[in-house]
Amino acid sequence: MSKTGSITVTIEGSNSSTTLPLLGGTLGPQVADIRKLYSSLGIFTYDPGYGETASCESKITYIDGDAGVLMYRGYPIEQLAEKSDFIEVCYLLMNGDLPNKAELEKFRKDVTYHTMVHEQIRRFFDGFRRDAHPMAIMCGVVGALAAFYHDNLDINDPRQREVAAFRLIAKVPTIAAMAYKYALGQPFVYPQNKLSYAANFLYMLNTVPAEPYEVSPVLERAMDRILVLHADHEQNASTSTVRLAGSTGANPFACIAAGIAALWGPAHGGANEAVLKMLAEIGTPDKIPAFIEKVKDKNSDVKLMGFGHRVYKNFDPRAKIMKETCHEVLAELGIKDEPLLDMAMEMERIALTDDYFISRKLYPNVDFYSGIILKAMGIPTSMFTVIFAVARTVGWVSQWKEMIEDPSQRIGRPRQIYTGAGARDYKPMAERG
Ligand code: CMC
Repeated sequence: MSKTGSITVTIEGSNSSTTLPLLGGTLGPQVADIRKLYSSLGIFTYDPGYGETASCESKITYIDGDAGVLMYRGYPIEQLAEKSDFIEVCYLLMNGDLPNKAELEKFRKDVTYHTMVHEQIRRFFDGFRRDAHPMAIMCGVVGALAAFYHDNLDINDPRQREVAAFRLIAKVPTIAAMAYKYALGQPFVYPQNKLSYAANFLYMLNTVPAEPYEVSPVLERAMDRILVLHADHEQNASTSTVRLAGSTGANPFACIAAGIAALWGPAHGGANEAVLKMLAEIGTPDKIPAFIEKVKDKNSDVKLMGFGHRVYKNFDPRAKIMKETCHEVLAELGIKDEPLLDMAMEMERIALTDDYFISRKLYPNVDFYSGIILKAMGIPTSMFTVIFAVARTVGWVSQWKEMIEDPSQRIGRPRQIYTGAGARDYKPMAERG
């Protein structure tokens, strides 16, 4: 980050003004450094939802929303989705560069060494209702990891940070699969370290003691791609939550549990589940036009789930790859007529030609297709956001590590415009109306 210029802020009608530095990164717009704005002019900035605020310096992920660009550590997402795999992407996100063969092998071992969870964690599950949403279980059990692995909770020790990161990346899929099995009433499945990250996850989800289970290479590849595409997305709501929680010095397991909670919402990670619910509610293609009218009605709060993005105002590059993967998976599974996919395609066609969506730059996002793929793979909708959480854990962990290692890091503490009552005196009960 370097100074690229300056900006002068003048309060209209007064003589007060100040000059603030403009900062630039490798790519992206310049940023006004407002750190001295309050001390020099006595004013704060107002930016609900932080849409125009850079909350940190980061070297991990770059998005150009207008051009539809997403890069991890400078590598375009399209190349990573095609040529890399999830475990290599994890190394890249965490370490800044692609590994050589030995580094990748060591990293793979370091992660797989931690795939099992403490046996006592099984007992935790007994406390949940069988019909609990698996994201509720994820929030609880991932947060509880701090109670089991407190030997490595000194966030100021780089080695302890690294071990906590490996534990999280390795154990989150195991916990996710346990949450799934618990809802089904089936026994938990121990991880198989000889399998790839994606294959092991599918294995833990789908294996039952009574039947052999072979992971299909096409489904393994599809799951791997879903994981790669969701691995990081710069300062989105859940990542910012992880950073905010981490800025207080909270332990990494607590921070990732906070990220899981933020991801759960339907405007964020919960959208893939919401897409399928929406398609099921619409029911048949002939009802799509009426639904679209409802979405466009200012007086309704109905949204077209899987459409729109805070940052992508052209297309979501992840959605393009997901669309291709969706067709590959349906072909592999021999699904020729998938009514939900037909409905999704029709919806996409109508929305992309409708002025409401065009003028607001609303395009399909990654979640528009990922839900259809997961459904075709036999995964129930309640697990969709959990799979997003499995993928995003490495992004959260990498961003958390970067934040802890950033010397300019301070506790996150936004300000506000207060619009409540002015100062007033307490009234005894007898004097209140
Ligand atoms: N359907 C209908 N109208 C929409 C939609 C939508 N999905 N998204 C935005 N709009 C409208 C919005 O009502 C507003 O209209 P107007 O200008 O008339 O008031 C305009 O488009 C601008 O929207 P906004 O609310 O300012 O956009 P935002 O950046 O605050 O919200 C979003 C982004 C993702 C929360 C929103 O587009 C949305 O709720 N989409 C549906 C949920 C979804 O698919 N989320 C997944 C995002 S991708 C996965 C991830 O990274 O988490």
